[in-house]
Amino acid sequence: MRIQLKGDAICTLFLVVALCTMIYSQLGHTSIREEKMNSRKKPAATSRIFHVPAVLQKRLNTEATAAKSRSISEVKRASVEIQETSVTMMATLTHSAFDFKHYLQDKDNRKFELLVNQPKKCRTNPGGPFLLIAIKSLVEDFDRREVVRKTWGREGPVNGMQVQRVFLLGIPKNKTSLPTWETLVRQESQMYRDVLLWGFQDTFFNLTLKEIHFLNWAEKFCSNAKFIFKGDADVFVNVENIINFLEKRDPSEDLFVGDIIYNAHPIRVRKSKYYIPESMYGLAMYPAYAGGGGFVLSSSTMKKLSQACEEVELFPIDDVFLGMCLQRINLKPIMHEGFKTFGITKPSAAPHLQTFDPCFYKDLMVVHSLKVAEIWLMWNLLHNPRLSCTQKKHVRKAFQWQIRPKRHAKGYPV
Ligand SMILES: *[C@@H]1O[C@H](CO)[C@@H](O)[C@H](O)[C@H]1NC(C)=O
Ligand SMILES: *[C@@H]1O[C@H](CO)[C@@H](O)[C@H](O)[C@H]1NC(C)=O
Repeated sequence: MRIQLKGDAICTLFLVVALCTMIYSQLGHTSIREEKMNSRKKPAATSRIFHVPAVLQKRLNTEATAAKSRSISEVKRASVEIQETSVTMMATLTHSAFDFKHYLQDKDNRKFELLVNQPKKCRTNPGGPFLLIAIKSLVEDFDRREVVRKTWGREGPVNGMQVQRVFLLGIPKNKTSLPTWETLVRQESQMYRDVLLWGFQDTFFNLTLKEIHFLNWAEKFCSNAKFIFKGDADVFVNVENIINFLEKRDPSEDLFVGDIIYNAHPIRVRKSKYYIPESMYGLAMYPAYAGGGGFVLSSSTMKKLSQACEEVELFPIDDVFLGMCLQRINLKPIMHEGFKTFGITKPSAAPHLQTFDPCFYKDLMVVHSLKVAEIWLMWNLLHNPRLSCTQKKHVRKAFQWQIRPKRHAKGYPV
């Protein structure tokens, strides 16, 4: 009896110790796990994982709360101040793959030469194109461009409206992976007349340069386009739906539509691809921005953005950067359900159902993250004259289609 009691006591003690150890280790890792889980909660634990000096911390906090009512230029000035205070901090902060120090030093270098132009792109039609499709692409991704050319990116009339297309390219970072890249670009340009090439290195963090240079190009060489679709090459775009949507709009009015992300927090976890140190962006929240997979803007908005982006400091995440430009011209981007720039997942309740049901894609405008073959297949299925979607309503009512968890999100949504 006594032995058993003693055994129980030891056992209980052991369990308590184990529990405490567990709780302790849980606390220590909360911030990292939150990042991994991409939880939609406010990442309170992640927001201060760096030991920011108290003075600076206080200033950052007041910056954050006062931010909403401020103009960007003020914020910019404030962040420059913060930058200066934290020069010494930078060295310890930037161990990630991305060299923030170099980026900050180099960010006034933002004008690069246009090496391949299509100056007549928007002059083939007297009134200019109704829709200009601009697609971010890498020189190496020839197959993606080919499939887009053959499917949703076709030039010519769609629903009676003129569509033109350009691909936006930079210099390949790894030239040895495609030594013939220059000849390829030249040949493609001659054959399709749809390639724009700028003299900056085509890297993820240089996409902001692509944004700026494209807007400048559009203002200069395509100001007569009524609307612009800008997106990635790995998306499926239902151009007919976009044109139907735009036909009722006035290109001389402001319009910016896409998959809008509101109240996203900068990611302060260094391991993340989207990590942004406070020295680079001190505010607690990003302005509303559109997922870069695809969005639509009017001619008028394009011209305003082209100007505004000139005045906004470079920021390495291009979607967020454009959000900053929108904020500068005080334009609220419009959220549209048809833009699924984070892709779609099958509803777990119906694994037998194909996400690939063309009837489902029929209602959408942009779907992100598709393989080359999937884009080709989807476009051809959708353009099959025998396609009949009588089941559509039943399917959409029975199941809740979900947006994939924000795996590509560049900030924490609240
Ligand atoms: C460049 O590409 C080649 C061929 O694909 C590869 O072997 C090499 O490791 C790459 N270099 C870099 C720096 O990524
Ligand atoms: C952007 O392109 C410039 C010019 O090619 C290059 O010097 C710079 O390293 C690139 N920046 C990034 C972040 O890749």
